[in-house]
Amino acid sequence: MRLLLATRNQHKVREISQLLRGDGFEVIGLDSLPALPEIIEDQPTLEGNARKKAAAAAQGSGLWALADDTGLEVAALWRAPGVFSARYAGPGCDFAANNRKLLSALQGTAAKKRAAVFRTVMALCGPDGAAMIEEGRLEGFITEELRGSDGFGYDPVFFVPAAGKTLAEMKPEEKNALSHRAAALEKMLPHIRNLAHDA
Ligand code: IMP
Repeated sequence: MRLLLATRNQHKVREISQLLRGDGFEVIGLDSLPALPEIIEDQPTLEGNARKKAAAAAQGSGLWALADDTGLEVAALWRAPGVFSARYAGPGCDFAANNRKLLSALQGTAAKKRAAVFRTVMALCGPDGAAMIEEGRLEGFITEELRGSDGFGYDPVFFVPAAGKTLAEMKPEEKNALSHRAAALEKMLPHIRNLAHDA
């Protein structure tokens, strides 16, 4: 059966295709269905955005659809940037500007008070309105300066105590083994596999 990922990110499409290899799915992204209208991420929560993207993609296509939304929550900043993580430094801003803004917002904050968590919420929706939600988390601390050059987004400022390094100091396989996105997907995989059995 076909599973639609509500994303134009080919990397995510490839990753999930690989995980579902042998389960009888053809995984496609939004680029394969150009007639579907653009979905605006305007909800106040990660769950709201994930649910909105998956539900719109499922209703528009008649297929089961999977979507995710991720945010970085910093305790000392009342969980900001949260749902605004992509555009923390303003509309159209880049990763470097977001990291500069975050480090400056935390200037003078002691190391042990720089706790943060990455949260990924994943939604799996059916064309009939059915919805399943799962969440993956990664706990860590915000560094005082950029460290490492791998990855993207807030990776250079996100220190993982168990690994003793930032996400940007990890090779992709190492990050993928412990990331918030991988944890959410791990929890969602049984629901996805059940669809194939029920079909
Ligand atoms: P999205 O929901 O996957 O598009 O993520 C929203 C924003 O969160 C991105 O634009 C990044 O700024 C940040 N982000 C998401 N995942 C990661 C990650 O694994 N590392 C660092 N930043 C991330």
